[in-house]
Order: sequence, then structure tokens, then C-alpha cells
Amino acid sequence: MALRDIIVLPDPILRRKARKVTQFDQGFQRLVDDMVETMRDAPGVGLAAPQVAVSERLIVVEYGEEDEEGNPIEPKRLYAVANPEIVVASTEQVNGIEACLSIPGLVGAVERYESVVIKGQNRRGVPVKIKARGWLARIFQHEIDHLDGILYPDRASRVWQSREDEVVAAE
Ligand code: NI
Repeated sequence: MALRDIIVLPDPILRRKARKVTQFDQGFQRLVDDMVETMRDAPGVGLAAPQVAVSERLIVVEYGEEDEEGNPIEPKRLYAVANPEIVVASTEQVNGIEACLSIPGLVGAVERYESVVIKGQNRRGVPVKIKARGWLARIFQHEIDHLDGILYPDRASRVWQSREDEVVAAE
């Protein structure tokens, strides 16, 4: 495994529509492992392949709910999803604050679906269906947007410079 460099705006790769994953070969397995390591090192709760300059439809997410003091209330779960798609979305939308590893120093308020169902493939190419709500649903929506060249400020009602006391999990 190896850390990969996270690219930042205005790198044009971040604005490209990423290609479908069709080969679940050794090179792809290495990419998944490297992205997990890079996400944990950042640290972040999610990472999309275009953020490591690979324009392919792959995301990794690692998240477990925490209480207000930041203590875990459930074990963290790791997801690696190729070709993810939102197939069901709640009518309810919720506002939340997001930060992106590819846009250092900024945070923004973004409305997202409160819950979503995602279809895609796992790292072996096996079809998977994931139900997510709350922050996990938000992370998936943020990462899937990356695959279409969409960044959270495109959807934000407001973007501002993050203050030191403003801890927002980056993705
Ligand atoms: Ni991001």
C-alpha cells in the first residue's frame, strides 16, 4: 500500500466526469488499498478516485456515528464502492456543513437527501446495495458528486473560511 497525493482545486481532473470501472484487476485492488490508506492518513471520512488524480468511478468511505463529544456510538464501517449510483432518495433534505480534502481551508453549508439507497459494486465487482442515512448518506452524496466533477461549493448555500475551532470531517 502507498499514500497517493490528493489533488486540489483548480486541478481540472476534479471537474471531469469519471470513467466507469470495468476491470477489477490487481491494479484496481492496489488503487482501493491506496485510497483507504490515503483517506485515513488525511484524515477524511471519504475519498473519490478523481481526488488522487484517477478519473474512475470509485469511492471509499469510512464512518461510524459519534456522540456530541466525538465518542463512537457504533463501530466505524469501511465501504469501497465502484460505479456507485443513487437509486432512491428521501424527499426530506437536511442542511449540514461539509469540507473537502481537495478544497483546503473552506467549509460550506449544503442541503443533501436525509437518506439514500446506493447501488454499485464492491472491490471484487460483486453488486452491492447500501442504505444510508444522516451523515453517512451525506458522505456518499458528496463522494458520488466527485465522480461527475461536482464539488460541494456548487451546491452550497454559503461557503466560508473554516475557523480553527470549526472541526468538520473532510471528504
Ligand atoms: Ni470532497
